[in-house]
Amino acid sequence: MMNIKEMDHTYIAPTYSRYNIVFEKGRGALLYDDSGREYIDLGAGIAVNIFGACDEPWQKAVTEQMGKLTHVSNLYYTEPDTRLAEELCRRTGMRKAFFGNSGAEANECAIKCARKYSFDRYGAGRHTVVTLKKSFHGRTLATLAATGQDEFHQYFGPFPEGFSYAEPDDFEDVKRICESESVCAVMMEMVQGEGGVHALSPHFVKQTADYCRAHDILLIDDEVQCGNGRTGTLYAYMQYGVLPDIMTTAKGIGGGLPIGICLMGDVCMDTLSKGTHGSTFGGNPVICAGALNILDRLDERLLKETADKGRYIREVLADTHGVVKTDGLGMMVGAELEKSADDTAAACMQQGVLVLTAHGRLRFLPPLTISFETLEKAMKIVKNVIENGVES
Ligand SMILES: Cc1ncc(COP(=O)(O)O)c(C=O)c1O
Repeated sequence: MMNIKEMDHTYIAPTYSRYNIVFEKGRGALLYDDSGREYIDLGAGIAVNIFGACDEPWQKAVTEQMGKLTHVSNLYYTEPDTRLAEELCRRTGMRKAFFGNSGAEANECAIKCARKYSFDRYGAGRHTVVTLKKSFHGRTLATLAATGQDEFHQYFGPFPEGFSYAEPDDFEDVKRICESESVCAVMMEMVQGEGGVHALSPHFVKQTADYCRAHDILLIDDEVQCGNGRTGTLYAYMQYGVLPDIMTTAKGIGGGLPIGICLMGDVCMDTLSKGTHGSTFGGNPVICAGALNILDRLDERLLKETADKGRYIREVLADTHGVVKTDGLGMMVGAELEKSADDTAAACMQQGVLVLTAHGRLRFLPPLTISFETLEKAMKIVKNVIENGVES
């Protein structure tokens, strides 16, 4: 009989390079493999498990809703998605929500909304979306095209046209593109994730937001990875002194189930009119009941704790020989190393700590609720691996 790894290799499309480990269960920041070995998780399923694995209050909210109503089509009203939309709007200053199933879909919705907003006001042609180099916006054709990394622009062409890429933190470059092309939106991650973890400069974000407002260009903020409390505020834009016209999020707000949300602000809240967009599972009652529970518990106390823990991670890394520099915001931290980040992550795994990598850097996205004690234990191991290079 084949084991799980052999079955995976036989039956699952080989799009992921997996570590040699089969996970069986988890609790909070701890995961257990099929031999019962414990790991401290500093990746949270790539910014998904913000309350850790198998979070009980979320499970309760989900299972209660499971017993009531699991799905009806979007032809009918339901309570969980409506309440989630209300709460998101109340806490963000945005005006309307569209629910989908993933970050990429949330960004597709944002791009469609920005293009239609411009079409409604100026007619066809003003459709370019400026994105930043090293950005990542998803794996659908349009969001791959939006992603400002050449390596994602292979194999699958033709890609949708109408995307131009500016240097991050270079307002003059954004302005140059806006002046030379017919631009409807500028789209950015306040903290770039897949690009290696880089927190954009506040001055750049503010200048770009002001320019966009003055020229009726929409500002789209992709908070799929950096949102939902991770940076120490509910959404990262709240630390940048700007209010985006469109904000997208996904990952952590779902508590471990798939969701993608596109929030639309004042100017474009009615742009996506009846029949212009949709999704079968969008606003699913079970997922939205869970997400509402997650959102309710992202309170001031947890946000402050997140900022403190993020500071602690940066401090440990700054005090580690072999770390060239750190970047990020809150509990979204990247570290450039003298050595290979991939080898270091593999060696940390051997020592029972899961860390991520992004663009040649180590990347830390722990559950926000990881205890200080567990975080300290994990960071001690990470520091030791970076300094003494334990064999992977
Ligand atoms: C900033 C950002 N946007 C979009 C996405 C795509 O999200 P999903 O994988 O849920 O489609 C990701 C995924 O990593 C992301 O980090």
